[in-house]
Amino acid sequence: MMAVLGGTRRLIHLSSVCAFLRSRCTAAALAQTSPIETLENRKPKTGILMLNMGGPEKLEDVHDFLLRLFKDTDLMKLPVQSKLGPLIARRRTPKIQEQYSRIGGGSPIKHWTSMQGEGMVRLLDQMSPDTAPHKFYIGFRYVHPLTEESIEEMEKDGIERAVAFTQYPQYSCSTTGSSLNAIYRYYRDRGEGPKMRWSVIDRWPTHPLLVECFADHIRNELLKFPEDKRNEVVILFSAHSLPMAVVNRGDPYPQEVGATVQRVMEALDHCNPYRLVWQSKVGPMAWLGPQTDDVIKGLCERGKKNLLLVPIAFTSDHIETLHELDIEYSQVLGEECGVENIRRAESLNGNPLFMKALAQLVQSHLISDQPCSRQLTLRCPLCINPTCGEAKAFFSAQKA
Ligand code: FES
Repeated sequence: MMAVLGGTRRLIHLSSVCAFLRSRCTAAALAQTSPIETLENRKPKTGILMLNMGGPEKLEDVHDFLLRLFKDTDLMKLPVQSKLGPLIARRRTPKIQEQYSRIGGGSPIKHWTSMQGEGMVRLLDQMSPDTAPHKFYIGFRYVHPLTEESIEEMEKDGIERAVAFTQYPQYSCSTTGSSLNAIYRYYRDRGEGPKMRWSVIDRWPTHPLLVECFADHIRNELLKFPEDKRNEVVILFSAHSLPMAVVNRGDPYPQEVGATVQRVMEALDHCNPYRLVWQSKVGPMAWLGPQTDDVIKGLCERGKKNLLLVPIAFTSDHIETLHELDIEYSQVLGEECGVENIRRAESLNGNPLFMKALAQLVQSHLISDQPCSRQLTLRCPLCINPTCGEAKAFFSAQKA
């Protein structure tokens, strides 16, 4: 009996194999005559290059990250930069490696940018079928994938519409400006123009969904303070500072960061007192202040000991949130100053509403068919970098 059943099973199995093979042969024949095109296997039409400075993923990447940073003449001007830049990079490497080792051994910025990019293009394929398929690329300034490497990949992919999308909501010539200059130089140095048509999302400091994300994260964090202290919490919006030499040549960054803060506090109905403060000053030169650490000390001395730090100029976690705000200020300095409660609002990282914000920004940008904002066309009144003018002309000239 068992043998008979076994034989039947083998027969059934054999007939299913034949059916499976027949279906495979038919599918293969169909694929040869009429390839089935899905959104996933179609060649990408619109490429979105997500621009950011990037951060070293591993401790051994720290030196090269610093080397590119200190050699970037759009970011800073140093005397004999080609020699002094590498020297400073070498000297600073051990200290910065130590900081990265304290936050898990590397920067999470590529992880978050990839997640944000995936969420953004998934939404865009549904929201904007005419410009689909969309593909995101990461263009970091100081680590791989470098902006130049990603442009090369975009050109190879045969992208038709390329969007340079800064991941800094507020524009500075030191950050977004440096990335745009890098795109311009890529083509200038090759002596040939782009095959794809470029446009730029160069700033988005008051986008309603960005403002909503920040407001949500602040509300969530305020709820974690003891109920009887919640009302007296001082909200400190902390943004990366700039040398005064940059501010004084007319860089729009301080005003745009202020605009974000204003909108976020309006969304929160001005629930708490607040200040805009500036972090990460280096070297002896004058930088935009007040500095975040001085403000924490000053407030504690004046009896304001419940503080909420809000990173307002970066959208993903990075060394300045995880080390500077969380360790240096919240743990070490907070204890020295005798704070009662100090917390930090979460970065936007994997928030789905933030991915929707990114998708909406790209969608409305593509509909507008503008090469860039009007504001991008104006150089800083005291700009001394000729590449800025050439890069602005390059992007303004990208026509529909
Ligand atoms: S430094 Fe701002 S445009 Fe050149």
